[in-house]
Amino acid sequence: MSVTELFEHPKIDDEPDLQLTPSGRLRHLLTLRGLDRQHLTALLDRAETFLSPRGERAVRSKALEGRTVANLFFEPSTRTRASFDLAAKRLGADVLNLDVNTSSRKKGEGILDMMYTLQAMQIDVFVVRDASAGVPAYIARHVDTYVSILNAGESDVSHPTQGLLDLLTIRQHKRDFQDLVVTIVGDIAHSRVARSAVQGLTTMGTGEIRLVSPVALAPDPGEMPSARIMHRLDDGVRGADVVMALRIQRERIGNLDGIPGIDEYFANYGISHERMKLAAPDAIVMHPGPMNRGIEIESSLADSRRSVIRKQVTNGLAVRMAILSAVTDSLEADAAARKGGSPAR
Ligand code: CP
Repeated sequence: MSVTELFEHPKIDDEPDLQLTPSGRLRHLLTLRGLDRQHLTALLDRAETFLSPRGERAVRSKALEGRTVANLFFEPSTRTRASFDLAAKRLGADVLNLDVNTSSRKKGEGILDMMYTLQAMQIDVFVVRDASAGVPAYIARHVDTYVSILNAGESDVSHPTQGLLDLLTIRQHKRDFQDLVVTIVGDIAHSRVARSAVQGLTTMGTGEIRLVSPVALAPDPGEMPSARIMHRLDDGVRGADVVMALRIQRERIGNLDGIPGIDEYFANYGISHERMKLAAPDAIVMHPGPMNRGIEIESSLADSRRSVIRKQVTNGLAVRMAILSAVTDSLEADAAARKGGSPAR
């Protein structure tokens, strides 16, 4: 896709209704912005139904039987890609994991031609990760009405399924969002995880959201008005109920000036057992992964009783099952409405 093509279209954050059907059902998942508390709660509740106790068989259903899900990851991924793949299979879908390195996009095929080609093979849901802002919404504007687009990570803009799994993990461990202090630490400026987390936490009415970073990695002033921007980690962690560390997104940073080296970064912005003594006694530690142990988080803290990092991964699979089943329900309800019949579910 050319840069001009993208700039002709506003980013999804300017156009949140694109993801809902006229009756308010979830058609695409492009951003958490524009989804109200009722929507988010319904998705979290649905995700809970796909969790089973550890050691027991994974929850399976036939909700996506006869449907096809294509995973198109134009950036590296372990958690998101593997969990969308497993989520679709556990719901009974056929799954295409396109190898983007051997796809015709490498030969210069535009993304829309690629999508139209795959759509012609009756793919129902596309899961898209891309380094360019605006790609999921751009595709969503062009695909057929019976196709859903799910954003699996969009540049530094949005990572809505990560935001949902973070909300689910916090909800499982804490009381009402209204009572919570949530602190996000690290490379806020380049983090789609932080942006989606702040959107979701704000909608859920979180008591206080703190964003702690070196000055060079702070968001633009005014970008996230519901959060407090801070630069001293001790102040940010003091009394926090949830502390989330972020990876430095080196792949998105053009100029490393002003960004501390590894030792200085860990000394000033690394989450450690010592730092966590300032937090609430029952505070939890989160990280979206992949983690750089010893840089943004002390290695033994990541494996400690406070850490819910692996729980986030488990919840990620349940959230992706919930999203896949929700958009498929919407597609079927829309198809039934078009035929003049009653909704399938
Ligand atoms: N948190 C996250 O998106 O991880 P992956 O890059 O491994 O998918």
